[in-house]
Amino acid sequence: MKYTIACFMAFFVAGGVSAQNKSEAALKAKINSIVSKMTLEEKIDMLHGNALFSSAGVSRLGIPELTCDDGPLGVREEIKRFDWASANWTTDSATFLPNGSAIAATWNPIMANRYGVVIGEEANARKKHIMLAPAFNICRMPLCGRTYEYYSEDPYLNSLLAVQSVKGIQSQHVAACIKHFAANNQELNRDSVNTIVDERALREIYFPAFKAAIQQGNAYTIMSAYNKLNGYWCSENNFLLNKVLKNEWGFKGAVISDWGGVNHTVAAANNGLDIEMGSSGPYDQWYFAKPLLAAVKSGQVPVKTIDDKVRRILWVMYHTSMSANHPVGSIATPAHAKAAYDIASESIVLLKNDNHLLPLKAGNIKSIAVIGDNAIRTFALGGYGAGVKAKYEVTALAGIKSRFGKTASISFAQGYKANYLANNTDAQNKGYDQPNQTLIDEAVALAKTSDVAILCIGSNREYESEAHDRKSLELPFGEQALVNAVTAVNANTIIVIMAGAPYDLNEIKKSNHAVVWVWFNGSEAGNALADVLKGVVNPSGKLPFTFPVSLKDSPASALNSYPGKGATAEYKEGILVGYRWYDTKKIQPEFPFGYGLSYTDFSISHFSADKSSYKKDETIRAKFTVKNTGSRYGAEVVQLYVSDPVCSVLRPEKELKAFQKVFLQPGEMKTVELDVKVGDLAFYDEGKKSWKVEAGEFVLQLGNSSRNISKTIKISVK
Ligand code: BGC
Repeated sequence: MKYTIACFMAFFVAGGVSAQNKSEAALKAKINSIVSKMTLEEKIDMLHGNALFSSAGVSRLGIPELTCDDGPLGVREEIKRFDWASANWTTDSATFLPNGSAIAATWNPIMANRYGVVIGEEANARKKHIMLAPAFNICRMPLCGRTYEYYSEDPYLNSLLAVQSVKGIQSQHVAACIKHFAANNQELNRDSVNTIVDERALREIYFPAFKAAIQQGNAYTIMSAYNKLNGYWCSENNFLLNKVLKNEWGFKGAVISDWGGVNHTVAAANNGLDIEMGSSGPYDQWYFAKPLLAAVKSGQVPVKTIDDKVRRILWVMYHTSMSANHPVGSIATPAHAKAAYDIASESIVLLKNDNHLLPLKAGNIKSIAVIGDNAIRTFALGGYGAGVKAKYEVTALAGIKSRFGKTASISFAQGYKANYLANNTDAQNKGYDQPNQTLIDEAVALAKTSDVAILCIGSNREYESEAHDRKSLELPFGEQALVNAVTAVNANTIIVIMAGAPYDLNEIKKSNHAVVWVWFNGSEAGNALADVLKGVVNPSGKLPFTFPVSLKDSPASALNSYPGKGATAEYKEGILVGYRWYDTKKIQPEFPFGYGLSYTDFSISHFSADKSSYKKDETIRAKFTVKNTGSRYGAEVVQLYVSDPVCSVLRPEKELKAFQKVFLQPGEMKTVELDVKVGDLAFYDEGKKSWKVEAGEFVLQLGNSSRNISKTIKISVK
């Protein structure tokens, strides 16, 4: 059958409208038919960027350009087509959403979904088809500069959140681009390092969230990482992209390179990469442009491989830009602000509250000293792809003024100078860790005469950033000296820490009564913080990663495998990442994974399993009761860990297998059931290249952090 162009366009548009309702088989046939009409040159043009954030369509066939945008903290401002400078739009101010580790700290997949919906709606308003988010590499090394973008050290928590973020984004017919696949766990040398990771660690720790985002979340696109994995660049890694991702997991979408993350034409084309993206032209010289055309013509890359890539891209388009009833989207709406506020409120972690200093009794407080550069700093911009031009951002000082300003006088002192820029050399940043005595003296004078001092410290988006790692866990900018000085003159000092990764809080833990952890918490950060301080919101966040007492306790440092020797970083700790390491090695953390306090108290009781013995294909139904025994509404995250005490291979002391965030009125009690498939208790057997559950005893451990297990039950597997 022959089509005129007009006839074909009509078919194509009509096809787009009906595609959602047709089976994947019908879609496949339609895509095949389109591919059969394309020239090789047209196909190749679809496989590489034609500008910083787009790749070509085929206008004669009605195939639009594919557009994408960063990133994980909100839809990035419009930049020029061919350079990174702002396009100076006035309509691209977006909602700044809490960062990845903040979302993870909510321990609430509903929040991850709401985050995704906002991203998807705002992407549509900006006509972006792919959002380069979410990013959820495992937090292996606390110094990693992108820890704040990522979620957690735990693959199960990571998986649940990744699935919901993806579903949220894609519910708006916008593709999520899950990143960075795989083992991109440090920024130092990220574009040269060869990470050596055994297959068991890949399968048990580094892959699960990617697998879940694809198999349960149906993620349409994935970004290959900059680094090498086990000797091969991730963008040309046959094991990673062809064997595992496409063949085993059945990934139907497109693999997009990280920007400038392609190293060869033929290897990348044959080993699974679909689209090459990068940071500068000339675009027709890229690996997947003229050199790929030449490689196909010379027979090094089969045409069927090219066709497969084009089919994948069209499949993504049929679910996004060319989908039926494509939503128009909306940007920075009140509903989006409410989502940002709710996520921020649930992410805040109360680390310490001795003497019940918090919540503040507003009626009794006449004067508040708000101290610290972070009280007036905004956090939307920075971190390259993770920067957002926020429509607005409520600072801590503004939030505190709006919540306490009517009844108390509020004064501000800067306290420290944040003399550090991500792009500076070490020499230029020299001295950033030194206290500023003049600012400390001012802060002390203010704190002395105030009823309460709220110290807003931590890091910022320059200090934690893509492309470099921190050098130590120490609080920067001489903040500890400020904390000590202010605490010495005001017993009612509350430490508020804004940061996205673990820091050394030993001194603060010892000397301060009230410590609140608040992340880079988005447009509504200041309001959420002030509502927590006031008790309008009862904190319910839990740490998504361990805070070690000392860097040398953390697995990669203890084993001297960070940043690696020469160009190689061997993940010697294997599966013992995060709490799996600290618990198994009996190393006391500063604050454990899953930890966070509340203004109310909870009791967990009546823990039971539906049986005492299970077959390997059965599901364990664990049941418990949780009660709010205090006098405030609040939420507890009840965590179910499992251990396999006797096994032919090393197993971690415990592994998170289920959790539930339970919201309770004062005095209220709920019975909760959590299901764990016996199959999910398996380890990856490297020898047999398969998952294995060994018969015997397993211990179910229930608690409200990885180090506060209140009940255990033994079960057996036959
Ligand atoms: C980052 C990606 C980002 C891309 C485009 C890269 O440097 O690693 O996460 O999406 O740039 O900005």
